[in-house]
This record gives sequence, C-alpha cells and structure tokens, in this order.
Amino acid sequence: MTETHIVALGGSLLRPEEESGRVKWFADLRDLAAKLQQNGTRVGIVVGGGLPAREAITLAEPYVGDVHALDEIGIAATRLNATIIQQVLREPGLDVAGMIPLDCDHAASLLGEHNFVVMGGTTPGHTTDAVAVELAIKAGAGRCIIATNVSHVYDKDPRTNDDASPVSQLTLVQLGEICGLGKPRQAGASVVVDPVAVEWAIEANLAMCVLDGRSIDLLAAALYGREFSGTNITI
Ligand code: UTP
Repeated sequence: MTETHIVALGGSLLRPEEESGRVKWFADLRDLAAKLQQNGTRVGIVVGGGLPAREAITLAEPYVGDVHALDEIGIAATRLNATIIQQVLREPGLDVAGMIPLDCDHAASLLGEHNFVVMGGTTPGHTTDAVAVELAIKAGAGRCIIATNVSHVYDKDPRTNDDASPVSQLTLVQLGEICGLGKPRQAGASVVVDPVAVEWAIEANLAMCVLDGRSIDLLAAALYGREFSGTNITI
C-alpha cells in the first residue's frame, strides 16, 4: 500500500541565517524527496509563512483592522513559500503537483496522483499547522509531522521560563495544555504548535510529532519511522 505522510514545514526553515545553511538545507530536502519518490512514498507538504508573512502583516496592520483580512495576507505569504518549495522540488524532475491547492480536499485528491503536493494556508483563523492536521486526516496519514525551528516541545515557554525543559513524549491533551488550547488567543502570541491544530488532532485521534526541521536528517528519520530526537505526541 502507498504510504502517505503529511509535513508542516515552518516558514522560518526556508531562510536559515547563513547562506551556506540555506544551500545545504534545500539540497538535503531535494535528496530526501528523491529517495522518498523512489520508494513510492507520497508526501503532502504544508509550508508556513515565516518572514514574508510577518513582514506583510506588519506592513498592512496600521491600515487594516480586520484580523481575518490580515490572515488573508498571511495566507498569501504561505502560498509564496509553498511555491518556492514546489519549484525547488520540481526542478530535478520530481513528481510534484503543478498547482498549489487552495484547500485540503483538493490537496488530498492530488496526493492520489502525485508523489508530492505542496500547499500553504487555506482560510483565516488558524495557521498552517492546522492545515497540515486537516490534510493528514483527509489523506489518511497516520500522523502529522510538525517540522519547526525548535528541538522539542518544552513543558513551558522557554523564552520566559529559565527552568523550562524539553519533553520527548506527550499526549495530545498535554500538548493542548502547553499550547493554550481553550484559552483566548493573544494577538501576536507565538506557540510551538497552533492550538487549533491540536484541537483538530484530538477530535480526529491523530498522532503528531514535533521536530527540528533545520535538520533534514531528523525529518528523514521521522518519515522512515525511525527513532528521532524531538517530541512524539500520542493520542
Ligand atoms: P503560518 O502558518 O506561517 O503561521 O501562517 P505562524 O505559526 O504564525 O508562523 P510560523 O510557523 O512561525 O512561520 C502565517 C499567518 O497566515 C495566516 C495566519 O495569520 C498566520 O499567522 N494563516 C495561515 C491563516 O489565516 N490561515 C491559514 O490556513 C494559514
């Protein structure tokens, strides 16, 4: 049976500070994708907005009061980043869907035809983490892999708590508590996983994992079902 994986690729991963890091990251991603294609593995990649999203939202914020309108700007940035990943993977001839699907139903159906489907955001009110969870559910993936720019989920926010510790194993409910599920969302608050994504994963009994996507080796280990350093989130 064809294996299908869904990866949320944090937008910051496309822009490592060092140019040499950037060259290596894109090259490693291409090599991994080529190996996955050889095995017939299907991968849905949901790309975050990173720097362009932040810049564009900051630019518009003084003139645009509606939060959903600002979300639309963020979504446009995620689709820009998705197009970068899509074209970088297409260049060496990998079987990547030729369009950036605008919703998860379309993305799931494209995964029936292509080894790789790359997309960004869908509708306002959540981030690409939640899109990845929705796509994992619709594509029948066993879990949703969140590739971000931290090594683990921490038991509390490490930016404000010196005694925060990395956690290797959590349940979805514990992850929800750490990410503020059920609490009002604070403007500009950045959490390791979007609480909407955790909520949808709980509803669908979908396992997740969080790993440092700056290392393509870690992403490869998760995709091949090997042990990896990061946080496994069970149902
Ligand atoms: P991201 O998914 O990049 O959100 O979408 P993020 O968690 O803030 O950023 P990273 O992962 O650290 O890079 C960027 C913004 O686009 C809008 C939201 O405003 C989000 O904050 N967005 C994205 C949506 O409204 N809907 C979507 O489906 C995706």
